[in-house]
Amino acid sequence: MQDKTNNQESSLTRRDFIKTAAIGAGAAAIVSMSLTEGQSQTQPAEAPKTQPSATPLKLEDVLKKAREKLYPRCRVCPECDGRACSGEVPGMGGIGSGKSFHNNYDSLAKIQLKMKTFHDVKKPDTSITLWGHKLAVPILSAATGGVTYNMGLKGKMTDEEYIDALLGGCIKAGTIGMAADGIGDPLDIYEIRLKAVAKYNGKAIATIKPKTQEEIIKRIRMIEKAGGLAFAVDIDSAGRAARALPGQTVEPKTMKQLKELAQCTKLPFIIKGIMTVEEAEMAVECGAAGIVVSNHGGRVLDHTPGSADVLAPIADKVKGKIVIFVDGGIRYGADVLKMLALGADAVLVGRPLLRGAVGGGQDGVALLINKMKNELVDSMVLTGTADVKKVKRDILIV
Ligand SMILES: Cc1cc2nc3c(=O)[nH]c(=O)nc-3n(C[C@H](O)[C@H](O)[C@H](O)COP(=O)(O)O)c2cc1C
Repeated sequence: MQDKTNNQESSLTRRDFIKTAAIGAGAAAIVSMSLTEGQSQTQPAEAPKTQPSATPLKLEDVLKKAREKLYPRCRVCPECDGRACSGEVPGMGGIGSGKSFHNNYDSLAKIQLKMKTFHDVKKPDTSITLWGHKLAVPILSAATGGVTYNMGLKGKMTDEEYIDALLGGCIKAGTIGMAADGIGDPLDIYEIRLKAVAKYNGKAIATIKPKTQEEIIKRIRMIEKAGGLAFAVDIDSAGRAARALPGQTVEPKTMKQLKELAQCTKLPFIIKGIMTVEEAEMAVECGAAGIVVSNHGGRVLDHTPGSADVLAPIADKVKGKIVIFVDGGIRYGADVLKMLALGADAVLVGRPLLRGAVGGGQDGVALLINKMKNELVDSMVLTGTADVKKVKRDILIV
């Protein structure tokens, strides 16, 4: 009987399997969810106090609920590698053939870790400080926008609920998140996100699309008012410059324009979407405080390398001069450690935390971050790494 089931399953295509799983999940009962401090050994010191609950939130329940709500935009695959959703932009996938998304995942998967157990590292330090703000883990939520047009959540989750889940969940896990700026999002949606930034005392980074200088500076002023920690411009969204609708101008930026953005505010300026050593050095030169090594989750240009493939040479040139974030395909704590060993100061996680927010709200996000934190701690012990701020590249077999 067992064999028959296995044979039937293996004869299905992967997409069919995922679809079947999603429909099955739709019929499943969802247990009530609540994660509280003290239930998880990974709960960070900085997390706010919450009421204890008898029913711990389970990962499988969060993913089941996420699948129910997100299907067919996201199948919530067991491995989020961009295969099932290739070409689905808008949606949750990678653009065109999906190669850039696949490359993110594959570039990390091919790196192996050297196991070392002859040492005295028992309780590694996972904390970092970002512009004066201490984080329990070097893991931030990436900006993910488009609750309706990307995630298909109309009538299931509002923009307000989504950003609250994402930013609030990060804070519960002792870290911070990023707020998105969709290319076609009206200003009132942006205001909703900044309200959440203000609600969490500015413990968030707000992103801005590479709109006209005037539009960007208007949004920088809004972020200053909300008390945001920093702002990022996802300059890689400029690919849509040629086909942007009226009133939705996005554009590549010159050095002069980038300098103007860095100089117009005291907020740290992060340039998101750096994939070459040259542009990383230019980001330093124009006064940016941080870069995100990123191909936008493979969503803007087909056939780019994975971010883990380009990170090391970038870090070798600009480490210490600018804060280096990286994102793309980071799914496990071991992936976080690999990125740190390649030279990142911190990582951003997109789709997995999106699923957490949709499937379990703030607690779903915190659960997923804490799971990654657990895995990171284990990986640090087993590679003899005492501190996330001093990860040696020689723990990698590249
Ligand atoms: C549905 C979706 C929406 C996104 N929206 C934005 C956005 O508005 N601004 C932005 O800078 N990046 C956006 N991104 C890219 C993410 O910030 C991040 O670079 C990417 O998701 C990281 O890859 P990962 O999802 O594999 O972790 C989006 C990604 C997804 C999947």
